[in-house]
Amino acid sequence: MASIPRFVVVTGTGTGVGKTVLTALLVRRRVRQGRPIRAFKPLCSGGRDDALALEAALGGTQDLDAINPWHFKAPLSPALAARLEGRRVGLGEVLHHLREQSAGCPLALVEGAGGLLSPSTADGDTRDLLRHLRAQPVLVAANRLGAIHDVRAALACLPPTLRSKTQVVLMAPAVPDPSTARNARSLADYHPADRIIDVPRVSGAIQSGASAPSAALNRRLDRVLEGLGA
Ligand SMILES: Nc1ncnc2c1ncn2[C@@H]1O[C@H](COP(=O)(O)OP(=O)(O)OP(=O)(O)O)[C@@H](O)[C@H]1O
Ligand SMILES: [Mg+2]
Repeated sequence: MASIPRFVVVTGTGTGVGKTVLTALLVRRRVRQGRPIRAFKPLCSGGRDDALALEAALGGTQDLDAINPWHFKAPLSPALAARLEGRRVGLGEVLHHLREQSAGCPLALVEGAGGLLSPSTADGDTRDLLRHLRAQPVLVAANRLGAIHDVRAALACLPPTLRSKTQVVLMAPAVPDPSTARNARSLADYHPADRIIDVPRVSGAIQSGASAPSAALNRRLDRVLEGLGA
């Protein structure tokens, strides 16, 4: 019997917080374990670098155009960048593509554009995508001063059923600050501790797959995957 895909949407407290780095690491981990996975960045704007990173992590098992069917030139939200090109992408089209391309695969990771509420399609944002896919959210935040507010604000925007199953991932910044080592513990006052994982700085070689992650990093990635029931 073909499996029904479990959708996971990797969103964030904003842009540039580490969604692609994390998604690619999770994909590589799963591929190395010989387990099936699909990955998507359905809407790209200002270049297709994210989709290319996912394509590389998938090791040739998924075409670039399947990973990323819609891409726009301007480095703006996809909704606005599309409008500038006289194009319109609806949420329904994105949902259709994701469901069709994930059929038969047990796990599909979808990187949202920007943050949870950034305009994504002409008629929706990543929160809408999450709801329609009945997906589990992974909420990525930069592990710096302000992370507690950013994560709490994003969690507050989710309906309670989604909020409670959100995996929060704190990505180490290039330059840590005094909050970096404390944020995970502090956030546990507001969200289940077993759903908060901090990920250290990862070298370019590990990100590109040229070097293997350390055992410690793999344990963290496995915690995220286990929390996704994957
Ligand atoms: N844990 C980490 N280790 C090393 N570099 C990181 C880490 N987290 C984030 N970065 C770096 O931060 C920058 C932004 O990361 P990334 O592209 O993954 O963010 P994003 O949330 O996917 O951004 P966008 O909104 O543009 O999709 C990149 O240069 C990336 O290499
Ligand atoms: Mg990205």
